[in-house]
Amino acid sequence: MDISQIQEKILKLKKEKDVCVLAHSYQAHEILEIADFTGDSYKLSVDASKVKNKNILMCGVRFMAETCKILSPDKTVYLAQPLAGCSMADQMDKQLISQVKKMYPDYTVVAYINTTAELKTICDVCVTSSSAVKIVNNIDNKNILFIPDCNLGDYVAKQCPDKNIKLLSGGCPIHACVNTDDVKKARALYPDAELLVHPECIPSVVEMADYVGSTSGIMNYAKQSDKKEFIIGTEISIAEHLQYECPDKKFHFLTLKLICPNMKSTTLVDVYNCLNGNGGEEIKLDDKTITDAKKCIDEMIRLG
Ligand code: 13P
Ligand code: SF4
Repeated sequence: MDISQIQEKILKLKKEKDVCVLAHSYQAHEILEIADFTGDSYKLSVDASKVKNKNILMCGVRFMAETCKILSPDKTVYLAQPLAGCSMADQMDKQLISQVKKMYPDYTVVAYINTTAELKTICDVCVTSSSAVKIVNNIDNKNILFIPDCNLGDYVAKQCPDKNIKLLSGGCPIHACVNTDDVKKARALYPDAELLVHPECIPSVVEMADYVGSTSGIMNYAKQSDKKEFIIGTEISIAEHLQYECPDKKFHFLTLKLICPNMKSTTLVDVYNCLNGNGGEEIKLDDKTITDAKKCIDEMIRLG
């Protein structure tokens, strides 16, 4: 079977089995083509709350599928590739943050959405990279404990100077690998290009960027800009999708270190197998986890 034959079978199975497919923008082009909704973490979580189908299939990483289950507990939610975790989400657990919270009793705990459902149960509000600054500004408390990404947290702290933000040393190992030498090299190779980066990059890289934003933010900025050439400082799939959608512009990878093995682990065949009942994993969360974790996601949607 070639790609289009597998895609045809997927589209047929989706209809037969009443499945809505959600795909994060880091997924491969052939997966985005068969998805009902695509976008960044924030858009997918809002889309997930409005889905009408009985079943949801997430092409992304585990915390994204958990977020769907929390928002749609009566639906059956599948993760297309059970091995697709998120290295950042796996760094901090409920036990650790419960201890930290005791040290900062007057702080509002803000959790990046890249956290486990279990950890979300003890946090006050969730944020995504596209909503973090707005939400932190809207919180009715000066003191914020921001977890787990210290790079996104540093970016938010600089945009919200009135807040007192405490950070822990977590983050995305893929984005955190990019350094200022990578930026200098790319700038030297493509002097006319604008540099667009994700706020999961380290502060010294973020400071060198022309634009900082979520995966969707970067895509929208590049599509709407009058500029013709861009260096993309997030997972390489974003530069690939942009090159496909905007053939009259040029997109360069900031560095080939920006490959997320978790996001890359989902294939079109995984999607097909999951729909066929031969793969994927049903996400199961107990009622209390769903109720408690939902509070901080609801807060994100209310304040965002
Ligand atoms: P977005 O919120 O921009 O989709 O980012 C998710 C992510 O995992 C980035 O590494
Ligand atoms: Fe997680 Fe980093 Fe991959 Fe995003 S790029 S899914 S934060 S490991």
